[in-house]
Amino acid sequence: MKQLAFIGYGKVGRCLSHHLARQSNIDRIQVYLRDLGKYRALIEASPSSKIVFTNHLSDALAGSDWVVSAVWPGAAAEVAEMAVACMAEEQIFLDLNTISAAHTEKVASLCQQKNVSFVKGAIMGGTEIYGASVPILLGGPMNERLARELSGFGLHVQGIGEDPQKPAMIKVIRSVLLKGITALLHEAGAAGEQVGMRDLIIESAVEAMTYREVGEILKLWLQDIRDQPERRIQEMDECKELLEQIGVEPIMTLASRRVFERMRDEKVSANQ
Ligand SMILES: NC(=O)c1ccc[n+]([C@@H]2O[C@H](COP(=O)([O-])OP(=O)(O)OC[C@H]3O[C@@H](n4cnc5c(N)ncnc54)[C@H](OP(=O)(O)O)[C@@H]3O)[C@@H](O)[C@H]2O)c1
Repeated sequence: MKQLAFIGYGKVGRCLSHHLARQSNIDRIQVYLRDLGKYRALIEASPSSKIVFTNHLSDALAGSDWVVSAVWPGAAAEVAEMAVACMAEEQIFLDLNTISAAHTEKVASLCQQKNVSFVKGAIMGGTEIYGASVPILLGGPMNERLARELSGFGLHVQGIGEDPQKPAMIKVIRSVLLKGITALLHEAGAAGEQVGMRDLIIESAVEAMTYREVGEILKLWLQDIRDQPERRIQEMDECKELLEQIGVEPIMTLASRRVFERMRDEKVSANQ
């Protein structure tokens, strides 16, 4: 039988705690909330009597095999510091927040000072889309053990080694790509809107991105991009001119231009 604690009862805390409460060999999940009143309706709607709520952190963590932190990225270190102060050596602190490698290092060292086992988790998708099957990568000395146990509870978890910074880096660098695509979509969409052809432009881009399997397309683009950085710089100049003309600030467009400039400069110095 296992007992767990959750710090934070937002989207991640609710999704994972509700799933875990359905597992027969988990007998109690203690959730720490700093403001119980704010969560009154959610507490009343809690799907399981195994989930208990408290605004005393030490009560929430007492007797729990694992302590899961699912708060805001900016609060992760502060929450870890408060949590490890009332944890014992045999407990595992699992941080699921999207934090940088440097912040992960800080949380790892806080755990180390208190001899608490630390596992870094990176949630690789939205719980609103995947639900409790959201892929989670784990790093840290106990990664394999925790991955085995959480997988046994039906979570989609993969241990990727003893370095806690690894999942943090994978998640954050992947965000450079995925959030960048979202920002580009927004900028191109705004420009398309201004000229009254948003859907046509997006549909055409989707067609170019999906005429083969997406992984293959991305590989082709990465090969192709090294070829003619100068031509791409000039194309981005044309894009910048149009966006400015129609009143859309070319933020991502200029950033793309800067990337192509860097590629051109690297190519020139490699050929010298
Ligand atoms: N949602 C996802 O699908 C997803 C995907 C990938 C990664 N993540 C990561 O998972 C973490 C949780 O995300 P979420 O979507 O569950 O966030 P959320 O819905 O905004 O919930 C955050 C929870 O953390 C609590 N919290 C914030 N600061 C706190 C503090 N200093 N002390 C105690 N509790 C605190 C909040 O309590 P209050 O209401 O009292 O402020 C709330 O219960 C984030 O780090 C996020 O980057 C989430």
